[in-house]
Amino acid sequence: MTVLVTGGAGFIGANVVDRLLQGGERVRILDDLSRPGVEKNLQWLDERHHGRFELMRADVRDPAVVRDAVNDTTHVFHFAAQVATPASLFEPIADFAINARGTLNLLEAIRAQPSRPSLIYTSSSKVYGTLADLPLRAGPLRYEPRDIVLAATGVDEKRPLAFHGPHGCSKGAADQYVLDYAHTFGLRAVVFRLSCVYGPRQRGHEDQGWVSHFLTHALRREPITIFGDGKQVRDLLYIDDLVDAFWRVRGDIARLAGRAFNVGGGPTNTVSLLELLGYIDRMLGRAPRVGFEPARIADPRYYVSAGGALSHATGWHARTTVEEGLARLLDWLRQQPENGARKTLEMGVIP
Ligand SMILES: NC(=O)c1ccc[n+]([C@@H]2O[C@H](COP(=O)([O-])OP(=O)(O)OC[C@H]3O[C@@H](n4cnc5c(N)ncnc54)[C@H](O)[C@@H]3O)[C@@H](O)[C@H]2O)c1
Repeated sequence: MTVLVTGGAGFIGANVVDRLLQGGERVRILDDLSRPGVEKNLQWLDERHHGRFELMRADVRDPAVVRDAVNDTTHVFHFAAQVATPASLFEPIADFAINARGTLNLLEAIRAQPSRPSLIYTSSSKVYGTLADLPLRAGPLRYEPRDIVLAATGVDEKRPLAFHGPHGCSKGAADQYVLDYAHTFGLRAVVFRLSCVYGPRQRGHEDQGWVSHFLTHALRREPITIFGDGKQVRDLLYIDDLVDAFWRVRGDIARLAGRAFNVGGGPTNTVSLLELLGYIDRMLGRAPRVGFEPARIADPRYYVSAGGALSHATGWHARTTVEEGLARLLDWLRQQPENGARKTLEMGVIP
């Protein structure tokens, strides 16, 4: 029996596939490779696990393909998505078709399988909207909530849903469909509402994957554009910690089915955009070049996940500090030829 990973060539997907293959599981990837650069993640997987995974280069918008992909699986990780808010403003119908309809295609395919594979779906903190009602105070480098309880614990799952922007709506619709299929049809399905995940194999660009995007541009000495004043705060979750959370939930999925969890680095692992520039300055020994543009649509000034529900349910905690995680990501980025690394036979990779 096989584990299906949709979006398995992407950042989160490739890391999950690697962990599955290390554990001796059989893996099928469904990915249309539409995200630039993800073919390099597949090459990396192939170098480490040659011939041990199956690739379906296909689109989640095609129900017949999705049915074939789900066939004979025990579990599905569903990561394939249109991931960026700006793209959703230009092409809302494509965004809906991939994120909402694509997820419904998958749910129907799972429902039709006699074995009823379990499912983990990665939703987004965007389902809570811009949180514009949170009273904030602006410090020199970051926004902070005036509510000290919120500052100490983060945003929990009781927060009302408030989809904003086409991408928020399509991810939110999928989130609700997954939960509903657990409740209405008894699927063993769990939703992870992620904020900012970062780490090796993240091929960030301006519209998504900002931590990797900032580091990449700084390494290449290219300017970074900050949208808004740069004081926006997010919690950062290192990829290995996320994969650990997936394993804990998958291991107990019958009990956890039908639940949605906010999953992030939490209040002890937060940065503002300006603070990330400070980290980069210290790591590289030079300040990145920066320009400012107006704030973007549907961009909260403050979002930090409360991880209490997931910790309570599974014992999981994010372990990697921002300093450790950024150092590991920088190490990996430095080894990528597109960031200037040169290869020699004798010496390996030279940054
Ligand atoms: N990385 C984060 O910080 C973050 C935050 C919130 C939510 N998420 C969610 O987690 C999931 C994975 O994110 P990621 O950071 O790995 O993104 P990613 O872009 O690296 O991976 C997504 C993968 O899906 C594939 N894909 C896109 N459209 C497809 C389609 N129509 N059919 C098949 N494959 C398609 C892409 O080629 C890519 O390999 C997404 O659902 C995303 O919305 C991620």
